[in-house]
Amino acid sequence: MTLRTSIAAATACAALATAFAAVSARAGGDLVAFPENYATGVLYTTVDRADNKQYRELYVSPRTAVEAAKKGEPLPSGTVLTLVQYAAKLDAQGNPEKDANGRFIKTNIIAYTVMEKRTGWGKEYPDNIRNGEWEYQAFKADKTPNTAANLTACFTCHKPLDARLDFVFSYDKLKAAP
Ligand code: HEC
Repeated sequence: MTLRTSIAAATACAALATAFAAVSARAGGDLVAFPENYATGVLYTTVDRADNKQYRELYVSPRTAVEAAKKGEPLPSGTVLTLVQYAAKLDAQGNPEKDANGRFIKTNIIAYTVMEKRTGWGKEYPDNIRNGEWEYQAFKADKTPNTAANLTACFTCHKPLDARLDFVFSYDKLKAAP
């Protein structure tokens, strides 16, 4: 699945998210600590999001997760994926400016979303919510958890990628990481 088709699927599934029964993803999210050292991991792709005028950096650690993806193996216990959301630089009309490569230009960090996988995690979720052994958490720019985030929506939107892509939208990019 390409990132583009994934995003289309994601948009469609967002509408479904609210249809699922409430489950306590909040407690699960508390297992995920802010990844202080995310920037020492592998920056494996960046995404320009025109819909919300964001520039995003996607980091993975540890490096063995990249090796696993290349081999088509499940990502190892201890894998942390960090998505850093930056406000894109806007022009006078309020549209994202582009750099010489036609890419958005990052300014300040707005928020972070993190997914972390550990052996034994996820057991408490019903099958229609569970994403293998992944837990999700959203953090504010100050690195504290965003308690207003709907963590169940993280599960429901990533769910259709299932075990084949290890619930990761950017799986192809992870595989292609240097
Ligand atoms: C409406 C669908 C949707 C929801 C809800 C959603 N995501 Fe994602 N997520 C995506 C898409 C699409 C990407 C691919 C990168 C991009 O477009 O920014 C992504 C990428 C990610 C990544 C990078 C790894 C990957 O899968 O590519 C992380 C980490 C992540 N999301 C965490 C979260 C967390 C935490 C939440 C809940 C607070 C969440 N997501 C909610 C659609 C969603």
